Amino acid sequence: SIKACLFDLDGVLVDTAKYHYLAWKRLAEELGFEFSEHDNERLKGVSRMASLDILLSIGGIDLDKATKLELAERKNNWYFEMITKMDDSEILPGALDFLKDCRENGLKVALGSASKNAMTILNNTGLTPYFDAIIDGTRTTSAKPDPEVFTLGASELGVLPEQCVVFEDAEAGIEAAQRAGMRSVGIGSPISLGKANLVVASLGEMTVTRLQEIASV
Ligand code: BG6
Ligand code: MG
Repeated sequence: SIKACLFDLDGVLVDTAKYHYLAWKRLAEELGFEFSEHDNERLKGVSRMASLDILLSIGGIDLDKATKLELAERKNNWYFEMITKMDDSEILPGALDFLKDCRENGLKVALGSASKNAMTILNNTGLTPYFDAIIDGTRTTSAKPDPEVFTLGASELGVLPEQCVVFEDAEAGIEAAQRAGMRSVGIGSPISLGKANLVVASLGEMTVTRLQEIASV
């Protein structure tokens, strides 16, 4: 049976994509090109440096490593300024109730996020106490679709991969779950998340009962 839920952060528990977008857009403007919301879709679930590489390729710009590090830091400073103003009103619909539902039913809960800003976001939204383990971008070396973040989460919770369900809004995250040997629930569109065991529009559609149904798949 299912013993643990592992949650991605951005796009699953909180809507931070808009802040990432504003910060990347500002950087693109400083570099002299436009960056659309459509382009931003390509950055979801992608690590900070990989996101910068995609952004620069859209602008047709090639830069050395040191300059890229400086630009990524500049973007992060703008992003950080926005997320320090976040509060619990920015928790996505259904997320808090489902986290409570998990805990009340004795399931273990972990975070599995690529973000190095995860702790700031969890603390500002009041979500930190809901987690038994927190694995974020400061604790991993390989980005999704590498399974590291989820494998580490399961081992810290003391559960086996087959006892875990991963919640993800990005294709790379669903792939990471599969590579870790875990079941997954996609949050968003069945078109891009078709490889998940179940796709829901939001965590508002999730219940612990539904979780155990996935286990029989
Ligand atoms: C992911 C986001 O969760 O974290 C990406 O979906 C982001 O958009 C990545 O680039 C890294 O986040 P951060 O906060 O370390 O720059
Ligand atoms: Mg995400």
